[in-house]
Amino acid sequence: MRRPRFIAQQSSHPKGLMGRAIARIMSRETSRLNDAALDLLDLRDDDRLLEVGIGHGRTVEKAAERLTNGYVAGIDVSAEMTRMAGRRNADAIRDGRVDIRVGSSSHVEFPDDAFTKALAVHTIYFWEDPSTDLAELRRVIRPEGRFVLGFTPSGASHAGHFPGDIYRFASRDELVEMLAAAGFDVETEVPDAGAGALLSLR
Ligand SMILES: C[S@@+](CC[C@H](N)C(=O)[O-])C[C@H]1O[C@@H](n2cnc3c(N)ncnc32)[C@H](O)[C@@H]1O
Repeated sequence: MRRPRFIAQQSSHPKGLMGRAIARIMSRETSRLNDAALDLLDLRDDDRLLEVGIGHGRTVEKAAERLTNGYVAGIDVSAEMTRMAGRRNADAIRDGRVDIRVGSSSHVEFPDDAFTKALAVHTIYFWEDPSTDLAELRRVIRPEGRFVLGFTPSGASHAGHFPGDIYRFASRDELVEMLAAAGFDVETEVPDAGAGALLSLR
């Protein structure tokens, strides 16, 4: 089904009541891919995980359940989403196990090597300069760490349902090339993980 422009705009940067409503729908629509991304990360209980583009915060919540001795940081450009995700993860934030901030893939406000693992699902389409932002992610992930990227490739049958100037889909090969230039090598690939593809990178 074709996505109306205003819904695509909201998905790229949710705002207000409409943004929250769309995020609730999104959390159901993207749950399979996000759950598969968490599995692919192979989380240990003491991992330090970064999620970029947390939206509703459901994946942060699920990750925090697994990281009993670890830590999850989540960033999103949308203040509406950080508030929504903050409410959902209020207890873990109070306990110091989760940290949610307004922030962008273009400038991740954490020190070098701050994380053992990271994920970004259905968000790279909206990044202004994905090549530079992937290098910024490489900076904050330890050299032996793992990064899982979840995305719809440009060739997918449903990619044409989304306005192309908002959802800037790339092909799998274009992404792998960008990732390699940023210092990430493909470790595992799941072309159909439920409404999207996954790349696990080192
Ligand atoms: C389609 S939603 C996906 C949310 C969640 N990852 C999921 O899979 O359900 C995209 C999210 O990425 C956020 N976003 C867009 N550009 C971003 C950027 N450059 N840095 C961080 N977050 C960004 C949006 O605000 C939105 O919350």
